[in-house]
Amino acid sequence: MSEEDVRGDGGLEARLEEQETFEPPAEFVEQANVTDESIYEQFEQEWPECWERAADFLEWEQAYDEVLVEDDAPTYQWFTGGKLNASYNCLDRHVEDGRGDAVAIEWEGELGEQRTYTYAELLAEVNEFAAALRELGVEEDDVVTMYMPMVPELPIAMLACARIGAPHSVVFAGFSADALATRMNSSDSEYLVTCDGYYRRGDALEHLSKANEGLTDVEHETSTVVVDRLGDDVEHDLGADQYDYDELVAAHEGETVEPVTRDAEDMLFLMYTSGTTGKPKGVKHTTAGYLAYTAWTSHAVLDLEPEDTYWCSADIGWITGHSYIVYGPLALGTTTVMYEGTPDYPDKDRFWEIVDDYDVDVFYTAPTAIRAFMKWGAEYPEKHDLSSLRLLGTVGEPINPRAWKWYYKHIGDEQCPIVDTWWQTETGGHIITTLPGVCDMKPGAAGPGLPGIDVRVVDAAGEEVDAGEAGYLSIDKPWPSMLRTLYRNDERFIEEYWTEYSDPEADEWVYFPEDGAKIDDDGYITVLGRVDDVINVSGHRLGTMEVESAIVGTQGVAEAAVVGGDHEIKGEAVYAYVIPEDGYEGGDELEDEIVDNVVDAIGPIAKPEEVVFTPELPKTRSGKIMRRLLEDIASGNELGNTSTLRNPEVVEDIQRQVQGE
Ligand code: PRX
Repeated sequence: MSEEDVRGDGGLEARLEEQETFEPPAEFVEQANVTDESIYEQFEQEWPECWERAADFLEWEQAYDEVLVEDDAPTYQWFTGGKLNASYNCLDRHVEDGRGDAVAIEWEGELGEQRTYTYAELLAEVNEFAAALRELGVEEDDVVTMYMPMVPELPIAMLACARIGAPHSVVFAGFSADALATRMNSSDSEYLVTCDGYYRRGDALEHLSKANEGLTDVEHETSTVVVDRLGDDVEHDLGADQYDYDELVAAHEGETVEPVTRDAEDMLFLMYTSGTTGKPKGVKHTTAGYLAYTAWTSHAVLDLEPEDTYWCSADIGWITGHSYIVYGPLALGTTTVMYEGTPDYPDKDRFWEIVDDYDVDVFYTAPTAIRAFMKWGAEYPEKHDLSSLRLLGTVGEPINPRAWKWYYKHIGDEQCPIVDTWWQTETGGHIITTLPGVCDMKPGAAGPGLPGIDVRVVDAAGEEVDAGEAGYLSIDKPWPSMLRTLYRNDERFIEEYWTEYSDPEADEWVYFPEDGAKIDDDGYITVLGRVDDVINVSGHRLGTMEVESAIVGTQGVAEAAVVGGDHEIKGEAVYAYVIPEDGYEGGDELEDEIVDNVVDAIGPIAKPEEVVFTPELPKTRSGKIMRRLLEDIASGNELGNTSTLRNPEVVEDIQRQVQGE
């Protein structure tokens, strides 16, 4: 019997397993937006003017004078002198071009309800809500917070803010009340748009009480708008300074609001993200560079055309949703799909049903979802016609070659290129990935830096490492959608991103993304994961310090160390090693309190996979906790030499507990 027979699939699986590079399918290349491989060279030669090509995706009220101003490096300025409005660019101009009846948003609720917004309809509601926000007192440059699940009113609120020049700060709905309050306090945000609730696995989940709880910790006066998502399923009362979204919009029916003229460098939004220290960082993105770059990468990497139906399954509460559900696709006039719920409700084929129903052309998701799909089995996608798909994408964490190949075969039917896109909240848009109509694909390796992006893999001294060797990512030239600063914290901005490899004396600035990576001879980069105290749970970024401070706040806890350990589906999971205080027992009761505190401080995504009680944490002789060792224990890896520890005897005990002995 041949190996093919044994495998029972005609050898396809075996061939895929061995194959290391994949050419983009000819049919895809024929229609791709970018096919000329000289684009890399052109961008290099024309840098920074190459970025005019990104700016050309936008309509400007006033042309910019300069592409890049480096005077205040590393706070770079892009397209200075230019004036524009992001909401105008995502809505009005398409309607003016006669595409008012084209679909902007296809929304599907978890229970199966569908709502379609054409560009004209979306523009009308954005106008009405913008008028309502103004009436509530929102002025240009006021920060408006949104704490909302995946309902169409979220992008509507974002675009309404963009229309009146009020930066938005979207807080992921899965975050806790505390997390909301911290962010509203940090940005002095006096306005909140939230929602009564949403559906998860068929149940109506109440959300407003969480928002209200957060508001009690906000240190200044606030006004709140509440979207009624649940109707009669869950009743809610509005407090003082709380307004019903539908009533506000109805009161402003038919009104239009002139888009406010914004400078290229005016803030478009803030997005809080986790870093090494306990306090979340307010990443500031500006109008022109961000919008130009997300439109350009939506065109070049996601290959979007106005006629496409495109679905990114991320949540708008994270940067992926901002850049590649809302701004990039709408700037190009594409149809963007939004889905409220989970991939396994009512059954594990929900995503494929959506692809089939809406004839999705381009689909973008996270490796953590792909790993779950693999586990559930190919019979779910096989139930549906996925032949509308032309291109697939992944984002958020490394994808291993097995998951890549499964996605390629079972979702893309070997007909769709896959773009594995590496980027960050801070980068605003894609940085490392293949151009799908130009490059071969190497499963596991994200690809080279995009045209115009100078990304390298360096050692601790900032010198480029040899091919195949592990090092750190660095980005040596600025790019239009880079963060401009950390909100009201320029010092931390420099410290976090620019101290590692830069030479301030020589005014040479190198951006440090805090990721490990290796580079092959052909320039393809494999991203290995974070090198700071940030972990990536199901593609969601969490600071271990944030989790630790929640744990240490629990009565009966003396000390805690939190690390990420490998997890089959989530990629990484939270492992907490905890020393109980004298007089306290490390048992179920304390564990429950710890878990509750973490959920209250951050949200359910930060829930520890395991809480391990120990009388001591492994420490070096100088008293530093050996986090690497704790990570290896959590991941079940071989442990290296532990004899240099001050207390090697604790290791075995901890290991035994994690292994469940
Ligand atoms: O470690 C990298 C990982 O996600 C981090 C950024 O997280 P966040 O700011 O939440 O943005 C996620 C969505 C853009 C990075 O520092 N990461 C993101 N994409 C990839 C990735 N790791 C490997 N491969 C990727 N494609």
